[in-house]
Amino acid sequence: MDATAVQAVFQDKIEQDLKIEPKDPMPDRYRAHLIRQISQHAHSEVIGMQPEGNWITRAPSLRAKQILLAKIQDEGGHGLYLYSTAETLGISREEMIEQLQTGKAKYSNIFNYPALTWADIGAIGWLVDGAAIVNQVALQRTSYGPYARAMFRICKEESFHQRQGYEIMANMMKGTTEQREMAQDAMNRWWWPALMMFGPHDKDSAHSGDAFKWRIKRKTNDELRQKFIDKTVQQAEVIGLTIPDPDLKWNETKQGYDHGEINWEEFKRVINGNGPCNKQRMEHHIRYHEEGAWVREAAAAYHEKFPTD
Ligand code: 3HC
Repeated sequence: MDATAVQAVFQDKIEQDLKIEPKDPMPDRYRAHLIRQISQHAHSEVIGMQPEGNWITRAPSLRAKQILLAKIQDEGGHGLYLYSTAETLGISREEMIEQLQTGKAKYSNIFNYPALTWADIGAIGWLVDGAAIVNQVALQRTSYGPYARAMFRICKEESFHQRQGYEIMANMMKGTTEQREMAQDAMNRWWWPALMMFGPHDKDSAHSGDAFKWRIKRKTNDELRQKFIDKTVQQAEVIGLTIPDPDLKWNETKQGYDHGEINWEEFKRVINGNGPCNKQRMEHHIRYHEEGAWVREAAAAYHEKFPTD
C-alpha cells in the first residue's frame, strides 16, 4: 500500500476507536512515536528498580522486605512487557538498550533522585506509583493494542505498589517524632519531582499534538497531573503529612487544587542527564548489563539448540 492508502486505512480505524495491531498499516511517524514512548516507559520501569533495590537489605522487617522484593520483581516484569510491546513495532531489544545506555533515550525524571531513608520507599510507592497509575489508567485506552493490553496488566500490580507505599507512610506518621519527621522529609523531597513525571505543561509539550491526533494520549499532561494532585492531597491530610507547596489552595470554581509553579529548569536539567543520580543509574545499568551477558548468551544458545522449547 502506498503512504496515502496506509494513512486512509489507519485514520479510519483511529476514528472508529479501533485498536491498531502490530500487522496493521500504520504511518511511520505513528510507529516512531510509539517506539519512543513505549521504550522510554520500559527503561523507566527497569531503572526504577535501582533506588528501591538499595533498600532490600535494609528493610525494617521481614514483611517489609518481602513486599519490597515483590514490588521490584513486578517492576522488572513491567519492563519486560513494555520492551516486548515495543518490539512488536520493529525495534530490537539491543537497539533499545543501546539508546538507553548512550543517552539517546530517556527514562522518567523521578528515578534520578536518591532514596535516602526508609520513608523514601514509602514515598516512592505512594507518590511515584500513584502518579504512574493515574498516567497508566489513561493509557489503557491508547490506540495501540499491545500497549493498551499491557497497561491493564500493569495497573493491577501498580495498585498494590501504591497501597504498600501509603501504608509505610501512614505507619511512620503514627510513630515516633523522628519517624514522623523522616516521613515529612521524604514527602518534601518527592512531591515536586512526582508532579514533573506527568511531563511539561500542555502548551510546552512537543508530542501531545500527535499523541492526541492518533489517540495515543487520551488525557493531557496537565489533566493527569491535576487528577493526581486532587487525589493525593486528601490522602496526605488523612495521615497528617503536609504538602510542601505554600501556594496549594482549593479552587471551588474548578473543584480542584491550584498549586505553585513547578521548577521546569530542574526538570530539564534532570531529563537531560544532570540530575542527582543520572550518572550512577547509568553506570549501574551498564555494569550489570555487561555482567549479565552470559545469561543472554546461554539462553540464546539453548534456544538455538532446542528451538521448540
Ligand atoms: N521524565 C523524562 N522525560 C520526560 C518526562 C519525564 N517525566 N516527561 C516528558 N519527558 C520528555 C518526553 O520524553 C519528551 O522527550 P523526547 O522527545 O526526548 O522523548 C519531552 O520530555 C517532551 O515531553 P512530551 O510531554 O511532549 O512527551 P510525551 O508526549 O511523550 O509525554 C509522558 C511524556 C507523559 C511521560 C508520556 O511519554 C507517557 O505517558 N509515557 C508513558 C508513561 C511513562 O513513561 N511513565 C514513566 C514512569 S513508569 C513508572 O513510574 C513505573 C512505576 O511502576 C514505578
